[in-house]
Amino acid sequence: MCGIFAYLNFLTPKKRSEIVDILVQGLQRMEYRGYDSAGIAIDGSNEIESPHSKVSLLRKTGKVSVLADYIKTNSDHLDMDMEYNIHCGIAHTRWATHGSPKDVNSHPHRSNEKNEFLVVHNGIITNYREIKEYLMKKGHVFESETDTEVIAKLTQHIHDRYPDFSFRQLVETVIQQLEGAFALAFKSSRFPGQLVASRRGSPLLVGIKSNSRLQTNHFPVSFSKGRRFMSNHATHLRDESSFVETPNNILDLSIAVRSQVGSGKIDVTDSTTAVRPFDSEDWEVEYFVASDAAAIIEHTKQVLFLEDDDVAFVEDELQSIDMELQEIMKGSYKTYMQKEIFEQPDSIVNTMRGRLLPSGQVVLGGIKEYLPDIKRCRRLIMVACGTSYHSAIACRQILEELSELPVVVELASDFLDRQTPIFRDDVCIFISQSGETADTLMALRYCKPRGALTIGVTNTVGSSICRESHCGIHINAGPEIGVASTKAYTSQILSLLMFALTLSDDRISMQQRRDEIIQALNDLPNQIREVLQLDSQVHDIAQRIYKEKSLLIMGRGFNFATCLEGALKIKELSYMHCEGIMSGELKHGPLAMVDEFLSICMVICNDHVYKKSLNALQQVVARDGSPIIIADTSVPEVIPLQLLSYHIAELNGANVDRPRNLAKSVTVE
Ligand code: F6R
Repeated sequence: MCGIFAYLNFLTPKKRSEIVDILVQGLQRMEYRGYDSAGIAIDGSNEIESPHSKVSLLRKTGKVSVLADYIKTNSDHLDMDMEYNIHCGIAHTRWATHGSPKDVNSHPHRSNEKNEFLVVHNGIITNYREIKEYLMKKGHVFESETDTEVIAKLTQHIHDRYPDFSFRQLVETVIQQLEGAFALAFKSSRFPGQLVASRRGSPLLVGIKSNSRLQTNHFPVSFSKGRRFMSNHATHLRDESSFVETPNNILDLSIAVRSQVGSGKIDVTDSTTAVRPFDSEDWEVEYFVASDAAAIIEHTKQVLFLEDDDVAFVEDELQSIDMELQEIMKGSYKTYMQKEIFEQPDSIVNTMRGRLLPSGQVVLGGIKEYLPDIKRCRRLIMVACGTSYHSAIACRQILEELSELPVVVELASDFLDRQTPIFRDDVCIFISQSGETADTLMALRYCKPRGALTIGVTNTVGSSICRESHCGIHINAGPEIGVASTKAYTSQILSLLMFALTLSDDRISMQQRRDEIIQALNDLPNQIREVLQLDSQVHDIAQRIYKEKSLLIMGRGFNFATCLEGALKIKELSYMHCEGIMSGELKHGPLAMVDEFLSICMVICNDHVYKKSLNALQQVVARDGSPIIIADTSVPEVIPLQLLSYHIAELNGANVDRPRNLAKSVTVE
């Protein structure tokens, strides 16, 4: 759901062309978050759109590549060889919510034709209509249909009324007026070389790249309020009250401060700074702001995660992201999704690594401390959306069996709509690949104050769900770039199975069953490898059915989740109608649709519901149906369906990695 990216170089001379490349590349890394339109704002003349402004604003409907071509075509106007010691650029790739995908609705949005204040935004401002009405009454003229434009115009409005406000103060004042979710990066022709970023509800992190020492300082509360996020001109450094000289001649150049504006208090006063001795010549610092670590990782692994209502930010310590650049590259595969499907024998090993011990013990470090409390609970509630929800359905039965507790599975949106009663002795498990899905995050925020113990099951270190839950399990599937989830799904299932095993580790009566499950988990990578070898057969099946209007996928028991997940993959990738059906329900309605023309796929395994599944098959065959049958083993059953959805989408010419209208990280309700 939209990706924002910003860049500030500081004492690192860069040509405008290099800065543009960094911004465009940052957007490309986040394009899976939205790809309706893209834009950048950079310092310089703006001959393309407004000859009077000092900030160039370039926006285009379509993918980032369309913007890149547009910039290339206009490079003469942009004086690409111009060099900057300090330059701030902001950039955005959009997934349309308010206003259709067109140039004028693309970000960055601006406060006026002079591009005085510009902003990029990920999220939704729920009170934008009221703000817009107010600003229109004050004479502001809007050019887009977006909620975001109110932010730029409100900043201008406050600046006009309080011209002495610093850029940081302006942003602090603006975000106090905003309701909803946002990650924002601001740039202004009034404050050249400055970048202000803030977030509430949507993810945002800052990366710092420097050849100098990075250090974490601690300042008293009263001091922090006056500090500014990004510094002004290097030559002004000594005059700025916001910069600190420490006794050993170290100059504190740029900082980030946690400023809990929303709650009216500033409660954290750490700052991370790049420091250098005064006499050092060859000093370089660059800052990157992004919705996602994927856009920063190739520049630096030193990142700070912003908390809600931080305007500038602070962390006690820098965190190194354990993610290598090649992990986010496609390699020899045609698409990320294909790569991610074929990575599953390895990704599930990574999920189990160091957790499934040869002794048969299962150790999940992230929940270890809380295990006694978890075991004492009265009910387990799993909350998630989409594919993650299906992983919860897939594991409910085994969790019930091994924990002997009631296990409830909830769709996050519905859970919130119903304001479901939650008690202190509940354990609530929030499953989310991204760790940022708004509905799931809201559900977590709903359960926590009600006293429930919360567990996050995510694939993203440092994500909101990860940080806000009491404890958690990282699924360790590695970055998933394809919008349709594949390897994260199998790793979620594995993580939940290991969780179920830890809940029963002291029950002698369960020992035999536990051994069976552990053996099956150890065999799984090889089974997946075998299933993946069926790729060309699955391709042949896809060729038979890719033009169909509709497909039913039926199964029962553990494989009901497989059917739901397979149907979701086919719907989202090939836009074909596809329904996952519990085969026990067949005779209660869906059977009426079955005839020789309807495409049907049945998942029938040699499991405890085998005989019942055969009954369903007979019912279908008796109505002249000729189903495709996926048989045997269990977790890998979903893999033929992942491959099927992939091939159907490819044969239909759809963009497999970026299905229309969807985004990888859904940070709005
Ligand atoms: C479908 C898919 C989505 C996500 C859902 C929740 O392929 O990926 O259905 O599962 O949007 O996302 P997370 O897991 O990030 O909370």
